[in-house]
Amino acid sequence: MPDPQSTQTIVLANLEETARFGEWLGSIAVEGDIFTLAGELGVGKTTLTQSIGLGLKVPAACYITSPTFSLLHEYPGRIPLYHMDLYRLSCDEIIELGFEDYLYGEGLSVVEWPDRLEEIMPHDRLQIEISMTSETSRTAHLSWHGRMRTRSKDFPPKSSA
Ligand SMILES: Nc1ncnc2c1ncn2[C@@H]1O[C@H](COP(=O)(O)OP(=O)(O)OP(=O)(O)O)[C@@H](O)[C@H]1O
Ligand SMILES: [Mg+2]
Repeated sequence: MPDPQSTQTIVLANLEETARFGEWLGSIAVEGDIFTLAGELGVGKTTLTQSIGLGLKVPAACYITSPTFSLLHEYPGRIPLYHMDLYRLSCDEIIELGFEDYLYGEGLSVVEWPDRLEEIMPHDRLQIEISMTSETSRTAHLSWHGRMRTRSKDFPPKSSA
């Protein structure tokens, strides 16, 4: 079998496609995975995280909101979801707050504004860079780093394509 591609570009033509992509991401996540979501303000990082939550079977009663002020939200699911928004933090503050315990914890970490991690950027991660192509469409550029490389799979999955 050929090596999986370690980068991939996915067109998210509308909110529905973003939702489908997020659900797939949630369905493939395993304990200890880290998805870092990069992209400008308002591009869709939290919106994508909500669909990742669906794919992780986070109960509908636990509505996923932006952790901009609380910085980290934890949700129960098939595995726990740790949703972090590092926008307002420096790398030193992130360390002081103990966020690394979550990054290497037993759930899936979804991290908005991962550039704040600087020297503590995890080696094993799926980086998803989202960019805006129109008011309603986005492009997601995926790069699978470290041990995540072996996990890279094509979206949409072949069986349902
Ligand atoms: N195809 C799409 N995918 C994702 N979001 C979309 C899409 N089309 C429109 N949107 C809208 O873009 C907005 C994205 O907001 P969201 O809060 O998810 O961004 P964010 O990247 O988390 O912002 P911030 O940097 O402030 O945390 C939402 O209002 C969402 O409905
Ligand atoms: Mg957000």
